[in-house]
Amino acid sequence: MSVDGKIAIVTGGTIGLGLAIARDLARNGATVIITSRKKSNLKKAIHLIDKNCYGFQLDLSKKNSISQFIENISKDFRHVDILINNAGFPFKREIWFKKIHDISQVELMNILQVDLIGSFQVTREILKIMMKKRTGVIINIASTPAYPVIFAALPTL
Ligand SMILES: NC(=O)c1ccc[n+]([C@@H]2O[C@H](COP(=O)([O-])OP(=O)(O)OC[C@H]3O[C@@H](n4cnc5c(N)ncnc54)[C@H](OP(=O)(O)O)[C@@H]3O)[C@@H](O)[C@H]2O)c1
Repeated sequence: MSVDGKIAIVTGGTIGLGLAIARDLARNGATVIITSRKKSNLKKAIHLIDKNCYGFQLDLSKKNSISQFIENISKDFRHVDILINNAGFPFKREIWFKKIHDISQVELMNILQVDLIGSFQVTREILKIMMKKRTGVIINIASTPAYPVIFAALPTL
């Protein structure tokens, strides 16, 4: 699929996989929208991506931030062709290596809010924009920190 001329959102495109994906999309002619909780991270990443890139603040753990982000995107862009749900709850050794029965409710909810609920809410709203043109691509990047929780839950379901 050619991305030339497409409008693509990469959530959390400030470092790592997201930055690499955003840079590749921009180099291949897409207009890329990256997100971050911090303006300073956006500034650095936009500089690295160099062209065809816009930065928007988004914190997936905050409902208001998600609605503000969607409002900004709807205002500034006619359409969205590609959504890459890349942002994820940060890797934290103290949670990652915990045994299931030691994971607190707060830790569980913090992970799910970013990796599942926040990403779902963004997807739902962007899907509404995509459906107006009846076209779009959504790619979800799974989160390893969430695996212990999800896989532990599976046998009991
Ligand atoms: N690296 C790996 O080995 C690996 C393996 C399996 C899966 N993954 C998944 O692949 C994706 C990218 O991983 P990565 O290692 O390249 O990067 P990462 O360090 O996990 O960070 C990804 C992005 O998530 C954003 N982020 C974190 N918390 C957020 C929140 N509450 N709201 C909005 N954005 C938030 C960060 O943006 P700011 O800090 O700028 O806000 C950052 O740009 C993640 O979903 C990760 O779980 C990674």
